Amino acid sequence: MYSDSTAMKIDLKEETILKGEIINLKKEKNAVLLAHYYQTEDIQEIADYVGDSLGLSQKAAAVDADIIVFAGVHFMAETAKILNPGKKVVVPDLNAGCSLADSCPPDAFRHFIDRYPGHVVVTYINCSAEIKALTDIVCTSSNAIKIVNSIPEDKPVIFAPDKNLGAYVMNQTGRAMVLWDGSCMVHEAFSIEKLLELARNNPEAEIIAHPESESHILQTACYIGSTAGMLKYVQQSTSRSFIVATEAGLLHQMQKDVPDKKLFPAPAIEDNICACSECAYMKLNTLQKLYNCLKNELPEVTVPDEVRLKALKPIERMLALS
Ligand code: 13P
Ligand code: SF4
Repeated sequence: MYSDSTAMKIDLKEETILKGEIINLKKEKNAVLLAHYYQTEDIQEIADYVGDSLGLSQKAAAVDADIIVFAGVHFMAETAKILNPGKKVVVPDLNAGCSLADSCPPDAFRHFIDRYPGHVVVTYINCSAEIKALTDIVCTSSNAIKIVNSIPEDKPVIFAPDKNLGAYVMNQTGRAMVLWDGSCMVHEAFSIEKLLELARNNPEAEIIAHPESESHILQTACYIGSTAGMLKYVQQSTSRSFIVATEAGLLHQMQKDVPDKKLFPAPAIEDNICACSECAYMKLNTLQKLYNCLKNELPEVTVPDEVRLKALKPIERMLALS
């Protein structure tokens, strides 16, 4: 059965003390801790809310605490700041970026859009505030199909930055879109050969996958959806075991939800040690850094007002449709 080894990296006594200190600091400073499902188990356990990108955006918009501590990656914290500019938003590690967001630099994207006049620009939330400011409507993996279907059929669409999610949405909606050539290094690291071998050895297991995965992985899946969607699917399915093609952090919450079911992380190409995929950016956040950031209220995530106001509109359009 799946077990998360990350919690073993720090001494148990030290972990308990740090968790206690973080909980006290949260109260003292009227702070709320939001965490993504890809965070390590110790962080997920003391978070006030753990969710997918859509859930985290909805929560961030509604926070009335003074400080939002965002345990996730930069674009997520930036989205929280865009939605709730009156709050101080701090992150454990400012270097926690995203390969997908990095694959779409603003200047190159501006030139790309110019090549397709009259197109509606849909961007996946995994992008920078500057890219959101160039967007008509944002989406997440939970609502991408719904968002694209909400656009009048006679309007041509640009979809960025994830070409894998874009191709999946095209397939599901039957809608041709111009795709930006970006991708997530974690979801592109799954090995189809190793996945099929694992499935052969566990014929009862259902394969479930995040739509950032490549099409040959998605073709093997019984269910495709966001992290929150995958959690729901595993709870509702009558199957007793699953091969999960997404970042391995999700398996912590999943195993809590279905303690009697067997979970296998989908194997990655180069991975001979733990046979799973971890997002190096997400894993930059640690309990110690979380404690430091709450104590010092640093590093802070800020967004210049001009960019923020432009980026807010397409996020609000998405939230209104979600
Ligand atoms: P979710 O919105 O499904 O949580 O995905 C976030 C992400 O970064 C996937 O790699
Ligand atoms: Fe970005 Fe991929 Fe990490 Fe998600 S898993 S934060 S898309 S690099």
